[in-house]
Amino acid sequence: MSNYHIKHLEEYYQVYRKSLRNPEAFWEEIAEEHFLWRKKWDRVLSWDFSKPEIKWFEGAQLNITENCIDRHLTTRGEKTAILFEPNDPNDPAEHITYNDLYARVNKFANVLKAQGIKKGDRVCIYLPMIPELAISVLACARIGAIHSVVFAGFSSTALSTRINDSDCKMVLTSDGSYRGSKTIDLKGIVDEALESCPDVHTVLVAKRIHSDINMKSGRDQWLQPLLDNASVDCEAEIMQAEDPLFILYTSGSTGKPKGMVHTTAGYMVYTAYTFKNVFQYKEDDVYWCTADIGWITGHSYIVYGPLANGATTVMFEGVPSYPDFGRFWDIVQKHKVNQFYTAPTAIRALAKQGTELVEKYDLSSLKVLGSVGEPINEEAWHWYNDNIGKKQSPIVDTWWQTETGGIMVSPIPFVTPTKPTYATLPFIGIQPALMDENGQELKGNQVEGRLCIKFPWPSIARTIWGNHERYKETYFSAYENKYFTGDGALRDEVGYYRITGRVDDVIIVSGHNLGTAPIEDAVNEHPAVAESAIVGFPHDVKGSALYGYVTLKDTGESRNHDNLRKEINQIITEHIGPIAKLDKIQFTSGLPKTRSGKIMRRILRKIAHKDTSNLGDTSTLLNPEVVQDIMDNVL
Ligand code: WTA
Repeated sequence: MSNYHIKHLEEYYQVYRKSLRNPEAFWEEIAEEHFLWRKKWDRVLSWDFSKPEIKWFEGAQLNITENCIDRHLTTRGEKTAILFEPNDPNDPAEHITYNDLYARVNKFANVLKAQGIKKGDRVCIYLPMIPELAISVLACARIGAIHSVVFAGFSSTALSTRINDSDCKMVLTSDGSYRGSKTIDLKGIVDEALESCPDVHTVLVAKRIHSDINMKSGRDQWLQPLLDNASVDCEAEIMQAEDPLFILYTSGSTGKPKGMVHTTAGYMVYTAYTFKNVFQYKEDDVYWCTADIGWITGHSYIVYGPLANGATTVMFEGVPSYPDFGRFWDIVQKHKVNQFYTAPTAIRALAKQGTELVEKYDLSSLKVLGSVGEPINEEAWHWYNDNIGKKQSPIVDTWWQTETGGIMVSPIPFVTPTKPTYATLPFIGIQPALMDENGQELKGNQVEGRLCIKFPWPSIARTIWGNHERYKETYFSAYENKYFTGDGALRDEVGYYRITGRVDDVIIVSGHNLGTAPIEDAVNEHPAVAESAIVGFPHDVKGSALYGYVTLKDTGESRNHDNLRKEINQIITEHIGPIAKLDKIQFTSGLPKTRSGKIMRRILRKIAHKDTSNLGDTSTLLNPEVVQDIMDNVL
């Protein structure tokens, strides 16, 4: 049991050093002692960042669902695995025990098989936060199908792009979803998406809102009758360690979304180990992560990490503001939540409401608070610490990415002293490096640079689906022999890390990564638009919001700007989803460009930040006159 559960700071340093001295021996021990293998590995690690090729536990055979479900049945069969809290607080919560989960996953897996899904096939899951979402993810893993969950807030165009990119054979969805007092017609979005997905022949539909939807004959089937007739036994497919477990799309700064591929054994070991330590999970704790399973946080820390530890994991269907802004605290009180993991954008939105709604509830069950998705600002950190944690529950500010699979830099609660806005220390086995502009590693403390990782960890994504070259280009070409994260960071005098934000054209809006290029492409679809540039600007709830500079085609007609703004945002909603809508749209006579025609986003960013004291020399621009014009009309 050594090293699996770290309990004090000295032990952290000891184990951390051990994990660096001999990573293979370290991870081998963790893997040996805490997981169920059908066959052990021949080799712990082989890697070459120049290709890049990374393999963990090669030769091993396993099924991750046997680790997340089967092995708990003898000791925890009647323990709640998934605690489902529905959108409507008056509807009863559902306690899905490990025994129930075993039966429901197996039934679902048998349905998938009966519909022709085999090992290696891709299944697109476009479901709201209802139990079927977690169960279908596990059902895919049970039979070795590769799940590709698409967040159910994405538009039909975004959905079809993702379905086609990984050539999914089947889509799992529902008749609709609840979001506070609203309902969303998910099936309608799927129908629209599938008009451009010729290879999808099967759609299974869960009933949630009981709306009257269109079922296309020969393609669409209701899920429940199929489940009712399925057997509760389903042999787990034996998977190789490096077989893909899932694809999850993330935005890049350019081009189409990247389908990050995570494989089986390393991902399991790392998410389980980080979960145990970062949340200090104890056997009877109730753990709640408020993310959606459509994002990596939900994959790793609602489904796989917690279940691999036999934990009780809460799944919440609704939103923090329904029926009022006390909902999160109501749930914490009702289910006596011990670990609560959310995003800075949610904390800021809740802080805005004051503390009245917090004080109504008993939050004394809370032991650990988590934050993820973007840098947490000082004010939000203190509000969270004072009002939710009552200065008793350490905040774990966890830095990581879709690509990293699991938490990379984070305090270990009750072990690492926290510091507001700092993600603090690298997790066991993680070797960060800060790089300067000349590609040199910055040694020592009190330095700031670009954040890279020097050595592989078990849950690093292995490739981009169908585009290994892009994987290499994006993550392994900026610095030789290092994984480049796309983030900037500083290391303080004691070696704590603070993540300062993206250094590329990805903007994090309410914790969602958005690439500027795809949004600009959508804006440029509007027939009146000549060109556009999008930058981020500070927003008190979203962290960053989007500012669009748009130049219109010169047609001689005058246009109503408010209508144009609505139309542009409508196009964005259709192409990407409402999360990518622009908060501000400024119509400009031109965009500042270099002589080679490159848009000077740096200048546009400064103007949107209302920080024009130091714009640099603009006289060498192709069109310096537009800068003043843009400044005069800034929104
Ligand atoms: C940002 C989410 C500062 C960062 C798990 C990263 C953070 C991107 C933090 C990945 C944090 C995430 N502090 N920044 N604690 N956590 N980020 O892929 O810019 O949705 O590169 O993964 O979010 O977002 P993703």
